[in-house]
Amino acid sequence: MTVPKLIDGKRIASELCDRVAGDADTFRQQYGLQPTLAVVLVGADPASEIYVRQKVIQCRKAGIRSTQHRLSELTPEAALFKLIGALNGDPTVHGILVQLPLPVHIDAARVLDAIDPAKDVDGFHPVNVGRLSTGTAALVPCTPLGCMLLLDTVIDPLRGKHAVVIGKSNIVGKPVALLLLERECTVTVTHIATQGLPGIARNADIVIAAAGAPRLVRGDWIKPGAVVIDVGITRVPGIGGKASIVGDCAADEMEHAAAVTPVPGGVGPMTIACLLANTLKAARNLHHG
Ligand code: GUN
Repeated sequence: MTVPKLIDGKRIASELCDRVAGDADTFRQQYGLQPTLAVVLVGADPASEIYVRQKVIQCRKAGIRSTQHRLSELTPEAALFKLIGALNGDPTVHGILVQLPLPVHIDAARVLDAIDPAKDVDGFHPVNVGRLSTGTAALVPCTPLGCMLLLDTVIDPLRGKHAVVIGKSNIVGKPVALLLLERECTVTVTHIATQGLPGIARNADIVIAAAGAPRLVRGDWIKPGAVVIDVGITRVPGIGGKASIVGDCAADEMEHAAAVTPVPGGVGPMTIACLLANTLKAARNLHHG
């Protein structure tokens, strides 16, 4: 039995963080200030707390200053807009990240609209979404960018490959489909209403599983020699009450794939590394004009 190559997201992300750290140091020497990310967290969603903590820790390691802005679950929308306005106007802040999800009384789309596109390190502002669709984006969403960097370590060239994206979210599915298209992959985007998904996946040279459905993608959906990028991270209760993280793919059934990303340790670390890279990019763009 062969085993697929495990794409080591932890190592690849760590190398990217090291490069960002070097560049952040150069930036600091050049401009006399650190690249700075403002992280906004509204409410106390436990998963968001964990993500925000990780983002702050990794920023510190890479020489990126981060400021945290924690607002209560009951914060009125207007207070959040006021904060974003202040961060937009602060020349010492280069990147702004509003952690999602937001409480239901807040209109997330309007909040994302309010962020200065030049500081939108998530790449979620409509201007950046539009630029992504024309292949001219400066700031590309972090998880899709991470997926592309991982693919580049195992496939060359991507051009002409058939990629099947499972899931059509604004955060992963749609932007990763655009990035694959830009690299001249043939792209099929599937979603919850897609008919005959296993048969569609079986045609893929590349499967990007981003449905948020644990073990949705089974081994017999994967063509021998295909590359599988698993974006899923679902927390499930494990034996002894200790939660474990499960991907969208049945990892134990992928032996005939050419390469797969592990969960955890695949796409996850890349998301944060790309956030740091985007913050540095935003800082440089803001200073170079
Ligand atoms: N919540 C889950 N993923 C993300 C992300 O990539 N960015 C933000 N801001 N919130 C998230």
